[in-house]
Amino acid sequence: MLVLAQVSDVHLGQDREGDGGERAAARTARVMDYLNGLPGELDAVLVTGDIADHGWPTEYETAAKLLDSRHTVLTCPGNHDVREAYRAGLLGEEATGGPVNRVHELPGATVLMCDSSIPGRHDGLLDEETLDWLDRQLAARPEVPALVAFHHPPVALHVPYVDEIRQFGEERLAELLGRHPQVVALLCGHSHTPAATSFAGLPLLVAPGVVSTVNLPWEDGGTVTFDHPPMVAFHILDDERRLTTHYRPVV
Ligand SMILES: [Fe+2]
Ligand SMILES: [Fe+2]
Repeated sequence: MLVLAQVSDVHLGQDREGDGGERAAARTARVMDYLNGLPGELDAVLVTGDIADHGWPTEYETAAKLLDSRHTVLTCPGNHDVREAYRAGLLGEEATGGPVNRVHELPGATVLMCDSSIPGRHDGLLDEETLDWLDRQLAARPEVPALVAFHHPPVALHVPYVDEIRQFGEERLAELLGRHPQVVALLCGHSHTPAATSFAGLPLLVAPGVVSTVNLPWEDGGTVTFDHPPMVAFHILDDERRLTTHYRPVV
């Protein structure tokens, strides 16, 4: 059995009413303190993009400090991230472009963190390089259950603001997933709302945002609300290859 936490959309550096990013940093610290203070063990903490708000090097310096954890932390970029600064500031690598894809072979599961960002845009796409990489990684470990994570959901969530900037070109991903039956579920962020849906016959679990919560069309109060506490998701992958997800506010 595997227990993963998922944190998303911390948007470090988001300047709210001239606070210089203090609120975003405080909420991220609150979430990480909660996870680090748990008496139980987590197999990993997934951070599914929009780690920085502007993609500035200083934001990744803050991210590297705040996301440092006693747990293994796995990340992927979102539409607010900038690949070069992300690589240099968060991964300690050369500041090059190109999609940031990472495979993590945990005991009992493969976790694939895919880059669905498109430089300079807010909608998403798994480009050919990323899909080829994902195909090769899944082909290399066909017997091990796999979780595929990326920032942008590849389906509409019935939130117009989010649906306009979801992941497009999704039929290529669906076709790929059909060749790799060990994929148990898909995990994403971007939507700033805890949600559950399906894609290509698989569960698609959407993590809540740490920095804000998107309003649903039948709620009022503008596009997002800053009133709700940050939330995390916990995913349990059991020995029957079933994924169970719990959502938890961090107050
Ligand atoms: Fe976001
Ligand atoms: Fe996003």
